[in-house]
Amino acid sequence: LALILDFGSQYTQLIARRARELGIYCEIVPCHTPLDDIRSAAPQALVLSGGPASVYTPDAPRCDAGIFTLGIPILGICYGLQTMAVEFGGTVEPSTRREFGSAQLRHIGTSQLFDGLPESFDVWMSHGDHVTTPPPGFTVTAHTADALGALEDPSRRLYGLQFHPEVVHTPLGRDILRNFFIGIAGMRADWNMQSFVESAVADIRARIGPNRAVCGLSGGVDSAVAAALVAEAIGDRLTCLFVDNGLLRQGEFDEVLTMLRDKMDLNVRGIAAGERFLTALAGVEDPEAKRKVIGRVFVEVFQEEAAKLGQVDFLVQGTLYPDVIESVSVKGPSAVIKTHHNVGGLPETLHLKLIEPLRELFKDEVRAIGRHLGLPPELLNRHPFPGPGLAVRIIGEVTPARVALLQRADAIVTEEVRAAGLYDDIWQVFAVLLPVRSVGVMGDERTYEHVCAIRAVTSEDGMTADWVRLPYDVLHRISRRIIGEVRGINRVTYDISSKPPATIEWE
Ligand code: XMP
Repeated sequence: LALILDFGSQYTQLIARRARELGIYCEIVPCHTPLDDIRSAAPQALVLSGGPASVYTPDAPRCDAGIFTLGIPILGICYGLQTMAVEFGGTVEPSTRREFGSAQLRHIGTSQLFDGLPESFDVWMSHGDHVTTPPPGFTVTAHTADALGALEDPSRRLYGLQFHPEVVHTPLGRDILRNFFIGIAGMRADWNMQSFVESAVADIRARIGPNRAVCGLSGGVDSAVAAALVAEAIGDRLTCLFVDNGLLRQGEFDEVLTMLRDKMDLNVRGIAAGERFLTALAGVEDPEAKRKVIGRVFVEVFQEEAAKLGQVDFLVQGTLYPDVIESVSVKGPSAVIKTHHNVGGLPETLHLKLIEPLRELFKDEVRAIGRHLGLPPELLNRHPFPGPGLAVRIIGEVTPARVALLQRADAIVTEEVRAAGLYDDIWQVFAVLLPVRSVGVMGDERTYEHVCAIRAVTSEDGMTADWVRLPYDVLHRISRRIIGEVRGINRVTYDISSKPPATIEWE
């Protein structure tokens, strides 16, 4: 086990992710974790993360200095290096200018951290302070043009990097971390999905004990994988609720329900509440107002259904790391997190304790766990779908007729993209129903009907996106079929906007 002491860096999770990729099991704990707790966890290595603070301010976060006498290897990264330097009598001062971005690092001497690496390579810097005098006993092992790059005292097994080896902009960072965990700390690279699942299941079992849990499924990957892990731990004491809000894709409610029940063997209740949502949405045009209405009705429906279950103490959510806005560990457990869009507001109103087994993971890791658990590929490879569903793809008022129209157009889009073998290369592809009507001619008759837009994007994480250069013949088939088969749409356009400045969804 390696422990990562979190000083609040936006990159802390990435350190954990890189360690996992190397087959190293690690856990993230707050920087102020008491020495006794650290000792009883018996870690083989410690990493001190970066952080936004300055070490010389009075309230700068510190770790228990006792960790430095445990005799286990410690790697300080950025702020982690600086706090270690100050602890041992070095000095840290503000730089005249912030060093931010790529820099050339040159290493000197024979540090084991840089074993097998070229003498000079690119690293990612992001700091305002720097070490001006290394502490006694430490040697500087690398530098950039502007600052000290690394220092160490191998006799006390203490190492520090001013740059961030965990980000992709330090291409050789993985080798450095490997040198630390495996070369210096002598850890074994035996961590994998199987071990993740085993330890997650054991944790969940211990936390829930003999009690029961409820999980709201959205039909997407995250909630399904979270539910599968919890079901592995407590079996039928987990009840899953899958709400049909009337805004799902064509046939989706039944398909997903069957898949969750028959292929995943989950204890799931389907709740057909479409009418209730659509009634509440009548007359609502503003996108944010629609989201609020949907969120509110969802909470009502969920609450009513959960109440029917009797005593339930835990709520399972498929929150992923990118959903966690702030580093919770430094600010304390009350720090604000973005509750899962789909079940926003539930924890407070239901007084349930949260179980979030995917909280430290990234989407691709969640898919890998899902594969490992044997979840059906058609579920794992599904495109992300917004909680408010088709409501944010029907511009203006949502009516049952418009939902039906969009469902049919959208089904054609998906069918054709799948048939062309492109579905798995695309982040999201869908149709949007516009409130605009345009004139057309069908046979000898004039038509005056809806316009539908097609949107297809590639993306890594939904934060940025590029529109997909769909082949013309695929676009042609989509357009011909929608106009031919969906009465009420007589024109199809293709959205060629990237994010930013556009967003993926139209609302
Ligand atoms: P945007 O439109 O902001 O979308 O570029 C980024 C990603 O988030 C999804 N999205 C939502 N998901 N509730 C959700 O659960 C929402 O209200 C919502 N709005 C957007 C969107 O589909 C894309 O994957």
